[in-house]
Amino acid sequence: MAPVADATAAEERARALASEHGCTACHGMVRKQVGPGFAQIADRYRNDPAAPSQLAANIRNGSVGRWGRVIMPRQPRVTGEEARLLAQWVLSQPSPPP
Ligand code: HEC
Repeated sequence: MAPVADATAAEERARALASEHGCTACHGMVRKQVGPGFAQIADRYRNDPAAPSQLAANIRNGSVGRWGRVIMPRQPRVTGEEARLLAQWVLSQPSPPP
């Protein structure tokens, strides 16, 4: 398959997972809702080579104190493979507009 088609398939799968696992109940694509916007997360970790694996781990284990005092609960239904895909997708978001 052509790389463009692969990218689109990964994007569609990630979007479906985000809605299936309820991520988008707390996260907006751009701005903060309950949790930080996905574009804000991408911006913060843009130059961090450890970010893909670190975010994948935090998606499954939950997180607190990195963005504020609201807790992200752990997500036991998300598999390791899904977490990696979701982390890549979050990190691929463009920077939020100023
Ligand atoms: C109940 C609300 C809630 C749900 C559901 C939720 N999150 Fe979060 N998420 C948060 C909050 C709040 C934070 C900020 C936590 C912190 O300050 O450390 C966060 C942080 C994050 C981060 C940044 C972690 C870091 O290390 O900086 C990522 C990536 C993320 N969430 C992805 C997801 C994905 C993907 C899902 C779905 C599988 C999801 N979240 C579901 C509330 C939520």
